[in-house]
Amino acid sequence: MSPEPPDLERAVTILRAGGLVAFPTETVYGLGADAASTAAIERLYAVKGRPRNHPVIVHLADAEQLGDWAARVPPKARALAAACWPGPLTLVLPRAKRVPDAVTGGRPGVGLRVPAQPLALALLARFGGGIAAPSANRFGRVSPTTAAHVRADLGADVDVVLDGGPCAVGVESTIVDLTGPVPAVLRHGGVPVERLRKIVGADVLDQPTGPARAPGMLPSHYAPRCRVELAPTPSEARRRCDELRAAGHAADVLDPGPDVDAYARHLYGWLREADDRGLDVLVVVPPPLVGIGAAVRERLEKAAAPRPS
Ligand code: TXA
Ligand code: MG
Repeated sequence: MSPEPPDLERAVTILRAGGLVAFPTETVYGLGADAASTAAIERLYAVKGRPRNHPVIVHLADAEQLGDWAARVPPKARALAAACWPGPLTLVLPRAKRVPDAVTGGRPGVGLRVPAQPLALALLARFGGGIAAPSANRFGRVSPTTAAHVRADLGADVDVVLDGGPCAVGVESTIVDLTGPVPAVLRHGGVPVERLRKIVGADVLDQPTGPARAPGMLPSHYAPRCRVELAPTPSEARRRCDELRAAGHAADVLDPGPDVDAYARHLYGWLREADDRGLDVLVVVPPPLVGIGAAVRERLEKAAAPRPS
């Protein structure tokens, strides 16, 4: 095991004092605050520039802490936690009384997950409590998958950034709501729906873009500054890019090929790079719809959606 970074102790002290700590998870970097402290979470919302009625996920060191945060843990939730944690899966469960309204946005469910990242787990174990953490980007921007992304976005507004290197998964956790009779996927993510069905059976609602979608998942989420256009094939992408360039636009093609895991891992970095290069338009060939490809597509479709001006 690698030695613990000296920042870890400082991070715990900061969390206990109501401050903000950015930390790596296997999905994206999170901006963490003490989930039991309404004041700390208010600060989190202010720094993120996020509307107050959007709930945040509470991160835990292990599934044994579920009972501290959930009023009830249905058998299917137990099965999912046992099979997927630590890992990129968030379970929405009926909230325990002690969960601050600021965490759930006043909703009856609380989102919980145990991340699969050694530094995150070390932080959670030392802190002892739950850490509320949205992705460590400003509201509506591309999620950070390196410590440098976090610093570029949040700068001095975050008290410490723990650096765990690039995130292994690269897109956010899958969110499953278990407060109703049938598990419902609210967001595609690191755990593919096929895998959920293997664990709890075929009866899983999968309409994250329908009315049951996670609150705060706006149509134009995950977007870089440049416009994103989707093209069904590499040749179609090329043709469209040539057309845009002929019209005077700074355009390029993103066509990472069929490896969906690599696509997920690099997606957000590539979107940021497009902005750093000053592109007006990025023409993207989406990944195949297998495994984590569905989560990547969901992000790309949102990135390509019309934006409020
Ligand atoms: O992978 C992830 O989930 C990352 C890392 C940091 O853990 N976190 C993340 O958080 O993506 P955030 O806040 O950027 O997105 C969380 C999503 C939001 O769309 C929110 O509405 C939904 O989860 N969510 C959180 N708590 C919820 C709840 N109690 N009920 C319904 N949706 C919830
Ligand atoms: Mg986010």
